[in-house]
Amino acid sequence: MRPGFSMKNIVVLSGAGISAESGIRTFRDGDGLWRTHRFQDLATPQAWEKNPHLVLEFYNERRKQLFEVQPNEGHKALVRLEQHFITDIVTQNVDDLHERAGSGRVLHLHGELKKARSTKNPNLVYTLDNWELKWGDKCEEGSQLRPHIVWFGEAVPNIGLAIQIVRQADIMIVVGTSLQVYPAAGLLDYAKNSIPVYLVDPKAEAPYYMKNVVTIREKAGIGLPKLVDELIEKYG
Ligand code: OAD
Repeated sequence: MRPGFSMKNIVVLSGAGISAESGIRTFRDGDGLWRTHRFQDLATPQAWEKNPHLVLEFYNERRKQLFEVQPNEGHKALVRLEQHFITDIVTQNVDDLHERAGSGRVLHLHGELKKARSTKNPNLVYTLDNWELKWGDKCEEGSQLRPHIVWFGEAVPNIGLAIQIVRQADIMIVVGTSLQVYPAAGLLDYAKNSIPVYLVDPKAEAPYYMKNVVTIREKAGIGLPKLVDELIEKYG
């Protein structure tokens, strides 16, 4: 950091694309999960009511894979920001690859795949040490455990905190998200007008109403290490 300057706040909003190079499928790309699976059957409270076994199986598969994959160069690049900026990562991802790469402040908007929670008492959340969550696995109060995922139609408990974080940002990076899912996509509206916003995504399209947007049409594993170098050089 340069003498006389206080540390700037950087906020990163990440989505499935940042984990694509680790081997995790995104949702809406050509090979995305919601192209081969109906989210209505798997990621809604109604799906859980109707066929919890199918829902458990779907998330067990995802969790099993998560135990096998590793963070990539994109996740790792973001860790370097912390030496130069107050860095917050707000992620739509349910994987733990930001944390495993070494990022310290990660807020999950849509839950965490390696956690389960009680169907009766949402405050009872447990970290799973293996991939399989079974019908019959119960919380300490005797109720069935469900995946700790925010499903379509459910409230996003961390959105208020995310809004506060975005409001304080001096620089924003948006990486690997199609910005199709609200309220997460709406977070961009809370950024101060004047701040630079960097979109890193092979299909990046700047929202028409936003000024100061730099689009970097590259994969996260290529675009982020370069962007992080640039930001450290320019503002760090
Ligand atoms: P999407 O699948 O909607 O979008 C993925 C984005 O990543 C697209 O814009 C791709 O162009 C981009 N992408 C693909 N490969 C990339 C790479 N190597 N580097 C950078 N970008 C890449 O995923 P999200 O926007 O994260 O919610 O989806 C939002 C939410 O919808 C998810 O959190 C999930 C889903 O339903 C729940 O399950 C609750």
